[in-house]
Parts: sequence; C-alpha cells; structure tokens
Amino acid sequence: MKIEKQVQLKAFNTLSLNSIASDYVKISSIDDLVSALTYANEHQLNILILSGGSNMLLPEHIHALVIHMNIKGITKLSEDDQTATLQVGAGEIWHDFVLWTTSQELYGLQNLALIPGLVGASPVQNIGAYGVEAGDFIESVEVYDRKENKIKHITREDCHFSYRHSIFKDDPDRYVITHVNFKLRKQADLKLNYGDLKNAVGDDLTGLNLQNQVIKIRQSKLPDPKEYPNVGSFFKNPVILQSDFDKLFSKYPQVPHYPQPNDQIKVAAGWLIEQAGWKGKQLGDVGMFHKQALVLVNYADANLTEVQQTYKTVQQDIYEKFGISLEPEPVLFNQQGFIIQHPLISE
Ligand code: EPU
Repeated sequence: MKIEKQVQLKAFNTLSLNSIASDYVKISSIDDLVSALTYANEHQLNILILSGGSNMLLPEHIHALVIHMNIKGITKLSEDDQTATLQVGAGEIWHDFVLWTTSQELYGLQNLALIPGLVGASPVQNIGAYGVEAGDFIESVEVYDRKENKIKHITREDCHFSYRHSIFKDDPDRYVITHVNFKLRKQADLKLNYGDLKNAVGDDLTGLNLQNQVIKIRQSKLPDPKEYPNVGSFFKNPVILQSDFDKLFSKYPQVPHYPQPNDQIKVAAGWLIEQAGWKGKQLGDVGMFHKQALVLVNYADANLTEVQQTYKTVQQDIYEKFGISLEPEPVLFNQQGFIIQHPLISE
C-alpha cells in the first residue's frame, strides 16, 4: 500500500473535474483498507471513498485521504436449482460483471447493462434502469464498519433500498463496502415493462438479447463519458404529491409520469428540462445533452464552480416554470472530503 501526495483525480471522475487530493491510496484488499484507515487516523485526515467516480462532484482541492477501491474477484458462494449467489469485489467494473453474468447464464441484471461505475457503488444509490434496481438482486453487502471497526454483512432488508437510496446514503461516513453479494436466477425472467423495451426485444426472449437491446438504447441516448464527460442522469426524477401533480397535469397533460405508492407521482425530469428549453443548451462550457436533457455534460475543462452555475440555473428555471425542485443525483463533496447536502432551490 503506497500513499501518494497531491494526486490529480481528473481521470478518476467521469465528469472530468480537476480535483487534487492531498493524500491518495489505491487498495486491493481488506488489509490494505485497514492500513489506509489507520494512516488516516494517525494523520487526522478524513477519508473519501473513490469508486468508479461516475456519480461524484469533486471540488478543486481535497484535503483528505482518498481511498480508491480496487478489491477484485467473483466467487460463487452457493447455488441451488434455481439460483446462484455470487460474492463480487467492490472494485469490479459493473458493466463487465453484468456481461459476465449473462455469459454464465445467470439472470436479473441484464437491464442494468452499460451503467458506468464499479460494483461497490451499486448498492449506495441502488442503481436502476429499465424497470430493475440493483437492490432487487442484492442478497447482502459486506462492509467494513468504521464505527465498530469490524467486518459486517448487511442483509438486503437492512439496506433499506428505495429509489436511488439506501442506508449507505443516510450514513455515508460509517461503512466502506468491500463486496456485494448477488442472488441471480438460472431461468431468465425478463423485465420488459419499461418504455419501448418490449418492442426492442421482439421475439428473441433471451437474456442476451435483452442485454444487447438495453445497450443499444443507452448508446442511442446517453453520452459516452470518454467523449462527453458526464455523470449519467444529473437530477433525480422528482416524486411529488398527487395534489401537486394534478395541477401540473391540468396545464401539461403530456408530462410523462409514473404512479408511486402513498399517493405520489414520479415525474420525468428530462421532460421538464426539455420543455424549459435546456435540451442541447450550454451555459459556458457546461450544458444539458442534446439527446437526453437529464444528462449534464462538461464540454471543455469546467471546474465544479462552473458546473454549479449551470445546474443551479437549470434548477431555478424549472422551479420558476413548474414549481418543482429538482434534486441533483450525484454526491457533492467539500474540501475536507465530506459529503454535503445539495441546497434546496426555493423562491
Ligand atoms: N424525456 C424527454 N426529454 C428528454 C429526456 C427524457 O421528454 O430530454 C422523457 C422521455 O421521452 C420519457 C421520459 O422522459 O418519456 C423518461 O426518459 P428516459 O426513459 O430516458 O429515462 P429517465 O427518466 O430520463 C431514468 C434513470 C436513468 C435510467 C433510465 C431508464 C433517473 C434519474 N434516471 O432516466 O438512470 O437509465 O430511467 O430506466 O432515474 C442514471 O441514474 O444515471 C440513469 C441514467
């Protein structure tokens, strides 16, 4: 384990933000992790866990120990006639893992192909796409508990998965995820109820075809971070009260929306942003992508302050036009490496 000083993180975050970490270490095992935590303790440094960097907003300078997760490996823990349970290292690349499951004829994750990032981040915001969420197939999450200084297994129930949320978001400084255990099916049970996925899949009802169609749809709408640095959807789809939705719907009956439990409605943020004229529009070097208005792109070499100018202007505009506060999806860090809340937009 080697601690490095003044490390540029631009290549390690998919929005390509310039960000210099005072202290940085890449770790490949739980032993490395424990040594890194001890170093941080001795040097009174906060720690920032860096995974695939595909959902992070990093400031230009970070005074903290950045721990870059690189724990690899896929192990079959158990299996029966119907299912197999796999232990997957937090540092495995998510998309490669999904492709591998399909090649092994293990099913469930095909709708989640091509999501950027690493396996260890998948439970944190319960990544989701095309009607499936990672939490649907996570059996448990192995963590290092920084409060109790020991390894723990957190069961699916205790992860409290919901839309882009889990306990790992509520308590971000407590757990370091080392492995994720997935229970996958041996029989394909394809989830085709999202949008036009069913048409795209057609008659070839195999997991492989489903995976290929998801890849095709994503490639047609979502920019490749290598070409257009981005963090996927920049805002969550807002979930609003039925009474507020009724007012919105009476003015805009074409708004795409999805009923939720407890008299709530999820509204398509990308549609609101497009209606507000932001699709394909830039403010300085930062703008909303021309094929998917929910994706913010760093078109040149913008830093966090410039990114914030653009997304705050979009938030303000949406609030003024529709009375809806959009909440950014990526996690915002301060200069001490702590996660901070996004401020709410209001009048
Ligand atoms: N829409 C527009 N204009 C746009 C973008 C979208 O009118 O510029 C409309 C679409 O026509 C559609 C609706 O909004 O009726 C939903 O669009 P889409 O199917 O593209 O999905 P999304 O709601 O924008 C969510 C996830 C994506 C995920 C897709 C597919 C969130 C915040 N985003 O996007 O996840 O891939 O559904 O399931 O929930 C991510 O989280 O980074 C991400 C890419």
